[in-house]
Amino acid sequence: MYLGIDLGTSSVKTVLVDDADRIIGSSSVHLTVSRPHPGWSEQDPASWVEGAFGTLDDLARQHSQEMSIVAGIGLSGQMHGATLLDRNDAILRPCMLWNDTRASAECAELERICPSLRSISANAAMPGFTAPKVQWVRRHEPDIFRQIASVLLPKSYVNFALTGDKFEDMSDASGTLWLDVAARDWSDTLLAATGLNRSKVARLVEGSAAAAPLRSDLAARWGMHKPPIVAGGAGDNAASAIGLAAVKPGDAFISLGTSGVIWITTDKLRPNPDSYVHAFCHAVPGSWHQMSVILSAASCLSWWSGVSGIKEASLLAELGEEPWQPSPAIFLPYLSGERTPYNDGTLRGMFANLDPGIDRPAMTRAVLEGVGFALRDCLDAMRADGDQITEASVVGGGSRGRAWIALLAAQLGITLHRVEAGESGAALGAARLARLAVTGAPAASLTGPARLESFAPDTKLSNAMAESRERRPALLPAARTAHG
Ligand code: XUL
Repeated sequence: MYLGIDLGTSSVKTVLVDDADRIIGSSSVHLTVSRPHPGWSEQDPASWVEGAFGTLDDLARQHSQEMSIVAGIGLSGQMHGATLLDRNDAILRPCMLWNDTRASAECAELERICPSLRSISANAAMPGFTAPKVQWVRRHEPDIFRQIASVLLPKSYVNFALTGDKFEDMSDASGTLWLDVAARDWSDTLLAATGLNRSKVARLVEGSAAAAPLRSDLAARWGMHKPPIVAGGAGDNAASAIGLAAVKPGDAFISLGTSGVIWITTDKLRPNPDSYVHAFCHAVPGSWHQMSVILSAASCLSWWSGVSGIKEASLLAELGEEPWQPSPAIFLPYLSGERTPYNDGTLRGMFANLDPGIDRPAMTRAVLEGVGFALRDCLDAMRADGDQITEASVVGGGSRGRAWIALLAAQLGITLHRVEAGESGAALGAARLARLAVTGAPAASLTGPARLESFAPDTKLSNAMAESRERRPALLPAARTAHG
């Protein structure tokens, strides 16, 4: 038995899986984000630990027999967050999350003071990454900066709570801007640019390697006969890739979570920083990936659901099952700024082209279309760099909606697949990393989940969407705000 814990932004979800990767049980706890200023996005790291432990308490109650024989635990985590600890390992401030855009000025500053930043990190400095956020703390909260004894990524903080050991896997560490991504090692040059050194960051491990045993008191709390091994784990997108067995060069998928991601596995590091495509390590040795990231994907639908006061499922039900004609309304999905292809923390969301005939379903369609067009911009940025993506599986909360996937296939012009347990992909991937760590099985032994349904692009809808897309770039200047 294995446990996969997915520390997301809106929830922490844990799955209990058997040795054949079948999900035996699952439990999740909701998490909240606080936004004290425009562009800020923060969470209390204590809530992650409380949430993760809550799911494990729940599983221990419901599946005591299976929990007693858990051999390994793996974590998947929302990436990039800066969890700052003092020398007693106390939390110094709320964690600034991956979609926090306050550190735009610090990105420009880091690129200026460290001219080798792009060549070592293989990425452009983007506000959501860890280093610019720590540089922001250095400038705006110097008392806190002086007390920093360690900086951990979100899932590493939970791993620390589980094991008492501080470790970071390569896929997640790539998103700090402190990693030499080709060498899979911390870079002294990059750390020094933010006034840090190796003593402030955790030991590096591969995601599929055994990192540390679970604390024995926790093993006893959850009724485990023997403390399971905790694996290095992965950033959430790399964990989803493992869940899908996307480990061969060219394997691609799309994640429709709070963020939206187009991923392709690569056999060597393939930087593309000028288009703000991410080039990171994979969670298994000797493998890398490219990834385009939009900051607001399924979260746009949740936002619209909150504003309209109608549940997401009801909003989707109002649209029916069939693909539709483009909405007369336009929605730009940049609620939290944007990474690929703009790297612009000052962008914000926007509705346009409203007229008295526009009803709620037309607004909902506009929201989904806006997310799809942003992903199309990402796909084009990757294609311009030579990536061949002709089909992809879809995972994440948004993968539940058939009509949305059909629409997205038309907008992207590629075939998309719905897969079994697509919503639990990252948690399942984390559990698989635990299995690889315990058994030593190679990543090549992983198999993909069953395909439930495939959606080829509908040509008529694709053409109609292409016309609708042309109306959007003119709106961008108005979507830029003064605050970042
Ligand atoms: C990836 C990224 C997001 C978060 C979401 O670079 O920022 O996908 O990992 O949890």
